[in-house]
Amino acid sequence: MQFTDILLHWYADNKRSLPWRGERDVYKIWVSEIILQQTRIVQGWEYYLRFIQTFPTVKALAEAEEEEVLRVWQGLGYYSRARNLHAAAKKVMQEHGGVFPKTYEQVRQLKGIGDYTAAAICSFAYGLPYPAVDGNVLRIISRVSGIHDNIMEVRTKKQITELCHKLMKGADPADFNQALMDFGSLQCTPKSPQCESCPLKNECYAYQHDEVEMLPVSIKNLQVKDRFFHFFVCIQEGQIFIEKRAEDDIWKGLYQLPLKETKENKQLKYRLLYQTKHQLTHQTIHASFYDIPDAKKLPAPAGQRLTIPLIELGNYAFPQLIVKFFNKI
Ligand code: ADE
Repeated sequence: MQFTDILLHWYADNKRSLPWRGERDVYKIWVSEIILQQTRIVQGWEYYLRFIQTFPTVKALAEAEEEEVLRVWQGLGYYSRARNLHAAAKKVMQEHGGVFPKTYEQVRQLKGIGDYTAAAICSFAYGLPYPAVDGNVLRIISRVSGIHDNIMEVRTKKQITELCHKLMKGADPADFNQALMDFGSLQCTPKSPQCESCPLKNECYAYQHDEVEMLPVSIKNLQVKDRFFHFFVCIQEGQIFIEKRAEDDIWKGLYQLPLKETKENKQLKYRLLYQTKHQLTHQTIHASFYDIPDAKKLPAPAGQRLTIPLIELGNYAFPQLIVKFFNKI
């Protein structure tokens, strides 16, 4: 059996009964998905029931005072969700004649609705084949398919969304998406997943390769750091000074030109030959190359420094950034 069949069989046996399950009213589906965006099911449940009771239709919500909407939301947190819901309800009344939009693109345009929520709403309410890819899905698919890319990156999400699109072919989109949600909450959990009882363990890359603890790869808050490198070109009698990079930094073990790193983006008082910016995954390198005929003016070596004949440059491994410079001059 294939992934989707196994998943749907598991879902038939294990699905949770939730107040919005099987709901066909798109308004109620929408409200439940907004509540569940940042709220646990047990807490969201009561709020959902109360919200629907207070504002049973999109019209009722649109006509309410914002204060009243916020009062019902009181205690749930992330109040912009309530304000966006309210604003979107008004838009549905004013721009869609009171009828909730029926295409993914139009649903996605409403305030507070991102890719995930639009897919959830469209699959549950209209049976449209859009995978609702949240953290659960990224985790399950990373494990089952052995995806080692960072799930916090847009292109990894895209890749997994496309894969889910293929996997959901032939299945009921609502069941497929809900099955993944429950499977992620009950079986393929972030910590201590229930692998021994998992019906997918034979197909699961992570289980088969003993990598369940390693996957998914999730590297948050990748702050790109700026660094300012000043390289010195010192050539004497056909020999050029180079040095080997020390450990515990980028490019470890590669060769480079003598280097001074500064904290600020400033220019040194030497003859500037070339400037360029080089993008690494977590760092932007702002590089300047200067001509220094006098070796005595070179900064102290950071590691092993040597002079080599210019024609032997090709025998040493340099970072791409420096190769680019060599090719320029
Ligand atoms: N999390 C977000 N939407 C959900 C849903 N419809 N069912 C269960 N968990 C959810």
